[in-house]
Amino acid sequence: MQILIIGGGNMGLTYAQSFLRSHITSKENMMILEKSPEKAVELAKKDIGTVYGKAEDCINGADLIIFAVKPQDSAALFEYIRPFISDQQVFLSIMAGVKIETISKALKANKIIRAMPNLPAQIGMGMTVFTSSDEVTRIELVMVQNLLSTTGKAIYAEKESAIDSATAISGSGPAYVWCFMDAMMQAARNMGFNESESELLVSQTFRGAVELYNKTNLSCEEWIKRVSSRGGTTEAAMKTYRANSVQEDIIEGAQAALDRAIELGKN
Ligand SMILES: NC(=O)c1ccc[n+]([C@@H]2O[C@H](COP(=O)([O-])OP(=O)(O)OC[C@H]3O[C@@H](n4cnc5c(N)ncnc54)[C@H](OP(=O)(O)O)[C@@H]3O)[C@@H](O)[C@H]2O)c1
Repeated sequence: MQILIIGGGNMGLTYAQSFLRSHITSKENMMILEKSPEKAVELAKKDIGTVYGKAEDCINGADLIIFAVKPQDSAALFEYIRPFISDQQVFLSIMAGVKIETISKALKANKIIRAMPNLPAQIGMGMTVFTSSDEVTRIELVMVQNLLSTTGKAIYAEKESAIDSATAISGSGPAYVWCFMDAMMQAARNMGFNESESELLVSQTFRGAVELYNKTNLSCEEWIKRVSSRGGTTEAAMKTYRANSVQEDIIEGAQAALDRAIELGKN
């Protein structure tokens, strides 16, 4: 299978490198279309496939075409590539907010898959939610799921609306975690730890808590109960969080992200 990635920026490069690292494909089967000549030169040095500057030189030979350009560049891209595409090709878009219907209408194509990855995909720890048009076959979906899984975990959603929800949870989610980490690092510095000690204490605490959670069937609430003894230190912190509605604020923040994703999708 020939794969063409359009857009050799952060995500395009992440995908190309993840596919090759996992040996799911070879560089002989990988093409990258990048409009910026400077970036194209840099990409070519990375030895991750053949780099092209013009759609007419590469689109024809691709079975799977991945759109990894910014959403605001999508309309121009669709217009540009439409004369070169064919019925049998599968299109995978990771562009935030660009709907399957929009892609299908603009390209006059049927086999569309839409995915929402997140930033930890860069280190193979990503979370991707994807969905597809009815015309994509089971085999094509499995093939794409295998490719997406090289960047972390990938789950299929029946409804396209789940992509907006995923944007609000796993897409923007790393920022929520970093926000919490940042506050804890500030608290650590206030208590006398230096910068690097604060970073270590907090990042190792996050890592340990997540790993522990993943290794058991206990819920977050049950784990909180296990660390909190009556009248103890954790209980004191939890009481303050509850009094300040910290959890409600986090839920509200995610809802604001969902509202924004829906709004952006309308434009
Ligand atoms: N970064 C994330 O964590 C993340 C998460 C989820 C989804 N996404 C989605 O992933 C997509 C890519 O994001 P990114 O951060 O990788 O963007 P990026 O670094 O800006 O990369 C996009 C690349 O595509 C090139 N490009 C634009 N139009 C093109 C065209 N017609 N033909 C060929 N190349 C073209 C751009 O060139 P120029 O710079 O010259 O314009 C740029 O090199 C976005 O749609 C974003 O919504 C990203």
